[in-house]
Amino acid sequence: QKDDRESMMIVSAWAQKYFSRYLLQENEGRAVGLSYIRERGIRDDIVKKFELGFCPDGKNVFTQEAQKQGYKMEYLERTGLTIKRDDWVRDRFAGRVMFPIHNIAGRVIAFGGRTLKADKNIAKYLNSPESDIYHKSRVLYGIYQAKREISRADKCYLVEGYTDVLSMHQAGIENVVASSGTALTHDQIRLIKRFTPNITIIYDGDAAGIKASLRGIDLVLEEGVNVKVLLLPDGEDPDSFARSMSSSQLTAYIEENETDFIRFKTKLLMKGAANDPIEKSRLVNDIVRSIAIVPDAITRSIYIQDCSRLMAVQEEVLYTQVRKIIHKHT
Ligand code: CTP
Ligand code: MN
Ligand code: MN
Ligand code: MN
Ligand code: MN
Repeated sequence: QKDDRESMMIVSAWAQKYFSRYLLQENEGRAVGLSYIRERGIRDDIVKKFELGFCPDGKNVFTQEAQKQGYKMEYLERTGLTIKRDDWVRDRFAGRVMFPIHNIAGRVIAFGGRTLKADKNIAKYLNSPESDIYHKSRVLYGIYQAKREISRADKCYLVEGYTDVLSMHQAGIENVVASSGTALTHDQIRLIKRFTPNITIIYDGDAAGIKASLRGIDLVLEEGVNVKVLLLPDGEDPDSFARSMSSSQLTAYIEENETDFIRFKTKLLMKGAANDPIEKSRLVNDIVRSIAIVPDAITRSIYIQDCSRLMAVQEEVLYTQVRKIIHKHT
């Protein structure tokens, strides 16, 4: 079992090196993969830092080379790099730009692969399947490259995607990790918590991103971590947004616009309902439910004071509501 895991990590490490070399040195990789990466404005130092690569666009060019080098089909299959059926064998990631996913110790445990085709019937990203070395819900993309800076800055930015992490690094912001499109989990928050108790969520500025932020807020609060939120302009994600301005503008924008979760919810849910008492009470109740999730009583009381001031509702009333919710659940 332990030997199997080691063999899976060894073939993954080799695959990463193969994909990198293919991107940087082979004609196909350079003409197709590297030009795509450059068109997106991703710098060479970022390509190197995140060990990006390219998987040859054929049926099983990668798998054949792996076998030639002595890597066993069993581990190629178990890592999901190769898909094998009775009558055919193919590379899962053929023709895709490769984003290796590292564990916290820096070992490659999985890959995300981006298609270069703009065909709606093709998945934009393919990811390695769950395996003995890759548990999606326990991994954050970029944690290995970010952990030092997360500790130093005592703060972590949480974004949705691979390219968001890359672009933030490129802009000089290195304390950033991605949930990679999947719903955030308690294990992922605990991973960040090893380095800092401060998280700022910067999800895409679309309906899905807002919904995921709201869900993320409650999950983070449950873990007793401080949460802030940055809402991006409609249609932007951290990658597109970072590339539309200079690094210093981006840093300034983040510092000026990140808000605590109460203000975020207030701004978001209030939209025109400021003078409607029913809407307002709905909003206050929503915020109260989030406050009730916070495990620490002192932190809760600070949030209650904030909410009281912002919403012009007496603290006592808020306390009563929070207590009601807490008691319902214990
Ligand atoms: N994702 C995925 N599978 C998909 C689409 C998305 O796994 N079919 C994950 C990827 O990790 C992706 C993240 O969800 O990075 C965010 O999705 P999205 O915002 O759609 O993609 P971007 O990261 O913005 O990708 P790009 O800029 O390359 O279009
Ligand atoms: Mn999105
Ligand atoms: Mn929960
Ligand atoms: Mn996006
Ligand atoms: Mn994007």
